[in-house]
Amino acid sequence: MLLDRLRGARGREAASTGTDLHAGPYRLLRQLDGGGEAQVWLAEHNSTRSPAVVKVQSPASRPERLRREVAVLHLLQTAQTPNVVRLLPLDGMGTVPDEPGVLHTWRGEPRLFCALEALPSGREYNLIRQGPLKREDALAVCDGLRAALRAMHADFRVVHNDLKPDNLVAWRPGRSPLAVRVDTPTVGGRLHVRLLDFGQAAPLVSHPITGQPYLGPSETYRYVYDSGTWPYCAPERWRREPLDDRSDQWSFAATVFELLTGERLVRAQSKAACENEIAGGGYLAHVAAAKLPPAAREAFERALAPSMVDRYAGVPPMSGLDAFYRDLEGALA
Ligand SMILES: Nc1ncnc2c1ncn2[C@@H]1O[C@H](COP(=O)(O)OP(=O)(O)OP(=O)(O)O)[C@@H](O)[C@H]1O
Ligand SMILES: [Mg+2]
Repeated sequence: MLLDRLRGARGREAASTGTDLHAGPYRLLRQLDGGGEAQVWLAEHNSTRSPAVVKVQSPASRPERLRREVAVLHLLQTAQTPNVVRLLPLDGMGTVPDEPGVLHTWRGEPRLFCALEALPSGREYNLIRQGPLKREDALAVCDGLRAALRAMHADFRVVHNDLKPDNLVAWRPGRSPLAVRVDTPTVGGRLHVRLLDFGQAAPLVSHPITGQPYLGPSETYRYVYDSGTWPYCAPERWRREPLDDRSDQWSFAATVFELLTGERLVRAQSKAACENEIAGGGYLAHVAAAKLPPAAREAFERALAPSMVDRYAGVPPMSGLDAFYRDLEGALA
């Protein structure tokens, strides 16, 4: 019944050929999204009939991407962070694998897939898709996102590398049709927030001289520099300099800026125009012109500084993102 409500919307029907498509214990029902790196399907468990989302590697994308995503998600499940999308078991035994499964398309071609908790990512329930957020909602999203990134950066030394509004889902407790599965109690009725899409993630290693965690533009991690969502890529990516968690800080701040103001930080569209606007610092004019309290503009200017050394630095146990959040919360109070 729950799924019947979700089937109404537009989308390709898995069963339209008359043959059901299965991914492990899940039956694919309707394609929610696709064309990027993966096809995302609404699915249901064969025996429990509980909803799930199955992410299937696109024919054009490199299989390492889904492998990386599943490995990182598997790691993050162990930290039990409520703000990271949950990976679901594939074998019906209740265990979550660290490798994607393999399904066969109608043509018999093998594709990698993973199963995720089904989130209310559509416009109707997902506040991220509903224009500028109220201050308290933007802060709740910011808070959830920094908690997810704390686990990534501090516990596992991994950078996300693809932070942007499209990779976030936020909804009000009790409001989603998937509520029976995903709504867990929250204090004070605050929003539920989940971070998605870990296909661009990369591990930080110790710098040979400073000992600090960083990511160099080595052959292995070339994908980090060669692909991405251009308007959200930090200036050092364009300069092909080493990255660290402060590169996520830049994309995090660009995302929160957009959620709060309803305007993209970087307005350019093409790769070349984004490079020009980001590497040239032109985006800072949008921060200066934003209708925000001066202290909030200052916090954004710092988190979005062209040079990493001018951004918020973590002073354990506080992370750089904690410090940004503290300043933003104070400015928006
Ligand atoms: N667990 C989920 N529940 C509901 N919707 C989801 C889920 N995972 C992904 N989606 C939807 O599918 C879209 C694409 O998913 P995701 O970002 O993981 O795929 P991608 O193809 O790797 O990314 P991109 O489209 O950025 O290339 C998301 O923006 C979201 O709308
Ligand atoms: Mg995405």
